[in-house]
Parts: sequence; structure tokens; C-alpha cells
Amino acid sequence: MDTEAFINEIADRLVAYINSKDKTERVNSSLSSRSLKRTLDVSMPIEGLGMEAALDDLDSYIEHSVKTHRAEFMNPLWGGLSLPALAGEMVAAATNNSMYTFELSPFATIIEHTILNRLCEIVGFPDGFGTMTTGGSNGNMIGMLCAREHAIPGSTKTGFDGSKMVVFVSDEAHYSVLMAANVIGIGHQNVIKVRCDEDGRMLPSSLQEEIDFARKEGFVPFCVVATSGTTVRGVFDPLSEIADIAHENNLWFHVDAAWGGACMFSPMHRGLMDGIEKADSLCWDAHKLMGLPLICSTFLVKRPEVLRTLCRHADVAHYLFHNETEDVDLGRYSLQCGRRNDALKLWLEWRVRGDAGWSAMVEQYMDYASHLEHLVNSNPALELMSTRMWTNVCFRYSPQNTDMDLNVLNVELRNRLIQEGMFMVSRSNIGDDVILRPVISNQNVTIQSIERFVESVLRLGDDIVRGLPSLG
Ligand SMILES: Cc1ncc(COP(=O)(O)O)c(C=O)c1O
Repeated sequence: MDTEAFINEIADRLVAYINSKDKTERVNSSLSSRSLKRTLDVSMPIEGLGMEAALDDLDSYIEHSVKTHRAEFMNPLWGGLSLPALAGEMVAAATNNSMYTFELSPFATIIEHTILNRLCEIVGFPDGFGTMTTGGSNGNMIGMLCAREHAIPGSTKTGFDGSKMVVFVSDEAHYSVLMAANVIGIGHQNVIKVRCDEDGRMLPSSLQEEIDFARKEGFVPFCVVATSGTTVRGVFDPLSEIADIAHENNLWFHVDAAWGGACMFSPMHRGLMDGIEKADSLCWDAHKLMGLPLICSTFLVKRPEVLRTLCRHADVAHYLFHNETEDVDLGRYSLQCGRRNDALKLWLEWRVRGDAGWSAMVEQYMDYASHLEHLVNSNPALELMSTRMWTNVCFRYSPQNTDMDLNVLNVELRNRLIQEGMFMVSRSNIGDDVILRPVISNQNVTIQSIERFVESVLRLGDDIVRGLPSLG
């Protein structure tokens, strides 16, 4: 098969896939992992199968993949599919430039510089810079590494004893802070969880108490991590007050804005992150609410020299980096060597939408979330489980006419949703309660799809209470 015929075949499949967003078929595969393994041939052949077989393999792959572009996919904090970004992803793969040097990645380097500078402008870091990373988890880790270098200058080079160094995070922080604590060398047990108010916001007064207590116990506080958009409840910590406490105590202040960062595009919702300009660093995922295909994530730092110090190992790579291009090569600000071009898709998408398009997207998603919240609040069998701040709508099925344990009931309800395959939403916990956590972060979601989702929850919940067996 020649190049053109092959690419045309792929294009046909992509168009069919994209258009399948309007079908009313399953979002997920109906097969268990065991049946999938039994049904599909995924073995590595001794003799190559040829290009025709690759097309068949792609057909099977598409058939059995979760349809993350469908409106009914409201499960993790990402979803949808936008054409400019898809085009950027495909062209980035085809051109296969690696982001370490301008020489090897000229246009992409300029694009990534532009994106990072623009994001810094939005955040309020006039002299800031950063890097594109493999995700918010990695961004949190780099933020904590910067904090370590700030607390113990030279520790990047000399190493350090992390057994007494402690970081403070909200009780509701993402689990990646534990990973980061491990990687930077302080260990999970040196992550101190600060109490939150009943809505899930870190309590500044508790932060100060925890810092004082840690010092009294002989620990060395060095970093505070606040969250703008927590994973489960979508809560925004009070950045301004937390920043003041962190800085009065000479601690690095990192903000995990992986999920909530996009609020900064909207004049209406930007206030959720008031005080962000006081942060020392933050991570911000474009592959979450902004709908870019995974991976597309940024780490921003107010004083770029701290990140540069972390990446001093790059200076020995004479086979890549030369003094003449020190000011432009991005590899001197990255922990990666070979690095994908994640900037192109974001740049294309941003050029198509403009700032105004991002702002409209945030505002529309918030309106949709508000509609879902309203449906929950107006139905006596549903119970909102957390004050809504962002597009997470945490609720559970809680009918009057049953004495079933509500956790058992909601676990079963979510199992049935997954078995039925018409909607995917996350099951999470708030305290001891099991909840459903749909989020709006998918451009294909509509008011109608949200209403169908609520109808499905009510129908399946009612089936359980009436003792009807599951269809699965
Ligand atoms: C608040 C928060 N921070 C960080 C992350 C990790 O982001 P990533 O999956 O891009 O590593 C997540 C993921 O959901 C998150 O919710």
C-alpha cells in the first residue's frame, strides 16, 4: 500500500471516529480484561503482518477504546477532542522534533517560549519562565525540587538529608505530592496534611499552627503546596493568605493548578485564584479542562534561575548544548532529555480560539456544571455532597424509600453505569461517603447529555432499590 492510500485510510478512520461522538452506543468496551485478551490477537509476530494488517489492528483498537470524546465521558478531569489540537498532535508526531535545542526544534522552540511567556503574563510572573512537562504530577515534583534548592542552595549538586524536611499540603491535595516527596528525597511521611474547612479549603490558621508545631518538633519546613481545583471537590485554596504565611516563614509556595488553572482566562472566574501572583511556582495542565490531548502540561516559576539551577546537569552535555544558544535552548530548563513537542497542539488550539475562546469555554463549562448542580438539588432522590466551586459536581443517590446502606447503593449504582456503558463518571469518597463525581471538561457535553445522565442515575438507582438485577 502506498503512502497516500495508507494515510487516506487513516484519515477515513479518524473522521469516522470523530463523527461517532454523536452515536448512542457504549462509551466503554463491554469486555472484561480477560475476555479482551482472549478475543484479540495482540501477539508480536515473528514475520511482519504488513500494512493492511495494521489497518485491521487500528480498527480493533478504536473499537475497544473508551470513547473519551463522547459527551457521556465525564470521568477523569479531561475528555473531548478538538480538531486543531488533533492536527497539532499529528504533525508533531510526523515532524518528530525534540525540544532540547533550538537547532533541532526551531519553530517549536519559539512556540514553547511564546506559550510559557504568555502563561507567565496571565499568572502575573513578569520575569517568569518554565517548561512543558509530562503532567501536573511532574510539575508538582519540579515545584518541590525548586523549593528544596531554595531552602538548601546547592542541594541539586551536593544532595541533602531530607529526613527532617517537611512540606505542607491541604488534606485534599492530589496524590502526586506523595510521589514528589519520595522523588525529592524527603519521603511520604514528611508530607504534612493541613486541615481544611468544611468545603475542603486549606485553613490558613491551621497551616500556621502546623508550621509552628513542626519547628517545635525539630523538623525543617521548606515548602507549602496549595491546590487550585482539587481533584475530587474542585476546591480552590485561599492563595493570598497561604502565600503570606508561606513567605513570612521563608517557605517556597507552589500551587497545583493542574485542574483549575484555566479559570484565569475568565474575568468572571479568575477570582478563584486571587493571589496566584504571590506564588513561587505552579503547574497548569492544558490537557485537563482546556481539552488538549494528553500530554500537554506546563510548569511555571517566578524566578527562572531556580529552575535553571535544577537543570545544571544539562551543562555537561556538549553534544547537545552550546554556549551560543544558551538563551534559547529549552533543554536547559527541563529534567528530560528527548522531549515531545507538546507546544504545537496548544499553540494551534490557542490561535484558533484566542483568549476569548478559552474564557467562553470556562464560562460555558461553569454554566453546565451549575445546571447539573441545579438538577441534583431539585431532585429529592439526589444529594449534593460538596459546595460546588468549579466544574466538579459531587453528589450521591440518596432516596427516601430505602434503608440500604448509601455507600453500598452508590457503589452498585456506579457499577451499573459502567456495565451499561452509556456514561462514565468517577466514583470517589468524601470523608466516609461514596460519591459520584461527574466533571465538565469535555467540549462535546451538552445540556441534553447532562439531563440524560441524571435520568440514567435515577433509573439505575431506582432499579437497585426495587431489587431488580443488573443487566451485566
Ligand atoms: C489537582 C491535581 N493535581 C495534579 C494532578 C496530576 O496531573 P497529571 O495527571 O497531569 O499528572 C491531578 C490529576 O488529576 C490533579 O487533579
